[in-house]
Amino acid sequence: MLEIKDLAVEVDGNKIIERLNLCIERGEVHILFGPNGCGKTTLMMAILGIPAYKVKKGRIAFKGGDITDLPTNERVKLGMGMSFQHPPEIRGVKLGDMVNIALGRKEAEIDESVIELGKKLNISADFLNRDVNLGFSGGEVKRSEILQLLAQAPEFLMFDEPDSGIDVGNIELIGDLISKLLDRDERPSKRERAGLIITHSGFILEHIKPDRAHVMLNGRIACSGRPEEVVKHIMDDGFERCVERCVVEGVC
Ligand SMILES: Nc1ncnc2c1ncn2[C@@H]1O[C@H](COP(=O)(O)OP(=O)(O)O)[C@@H](O)[C@H]1O
Ligand SMILES: [Mg+2]
Repeated sequence: MLEIKDLAVEVDGNKIIERLNLCIERGEVHILFGPNGCGKTTLMMAILGIPAYKVKKGRIAFKGGDITDLPTNERVKLGMGMSFQHPPEIRGVKLGDMVNIALGRKEAEIDESVIELGKKLNISADFLNRDVNLGFSGGEVKRSEILQLLAQAPEFLMFDEPDSGIDVGNIELIGDLISKLLDRDERPSKRERAGLIITHSGFILEHIKPDRAHVMLNGRIACSGRPEEVVKHIMDDGFERCVERCVVEGVC
């Protein structure tokens, strides 16, 4: 579903990603670990084609077609979606309006179907009437992002730290919804969607049971492996030593 070859990305003239390879098949979920500032968010932004993240080298293919030069809206139309780590505040646009847009509807009204979707994330009808992210707490931002993805239902989903700042009362709910969005309750052969998740906690691993994990260091995928093994190596020896013990295997 996604194939990245020899990618280099610059932000504000700074090289952030270099020689990055990554391949995610339909039905798979991959986890991306790595220390703060290693380029995890930059990678997702580049996959989505956010203009400030300039691809200087390499190519990104999605569902068999080259999307390296496509604008973000075209990538979204092809079936990509993302839950952002730090989404912007959008004054004058209600969360419910965003859900309507994500559902592909023209209605201006926040009706029963939108309210029902909100309930799945413990988001009340009043909350749907608030401006997107304006004054939302950290956990509320995450739930609002996942609500919008739930409405959009893309084929390829990226989650940038979906579990950070989520309280214990909502963490199971988030885990279950991410699992559903990624078809994890289906048999492997029936899974139609795929995803990439950035996380620092073991919670997502237990809930989603991903297929592969990667460690990113200094703008490259330094190593990849079975999620439980990669996590054990990181816990035992830290990110840097993990590289020595994992098999380098970003490519298909
Ligand atoms: N707009 C920007 N201008 C300059 N540097 C940036 C910008 N965005 C990100 N960076 C830098 O790129 C590096 C990688 O950032 P990021 O991808 O957000 O890391 P991660 O998500 O792994 O914590 C960091 O050093 C960060 O400061
Ligand atoms: Mg980040």
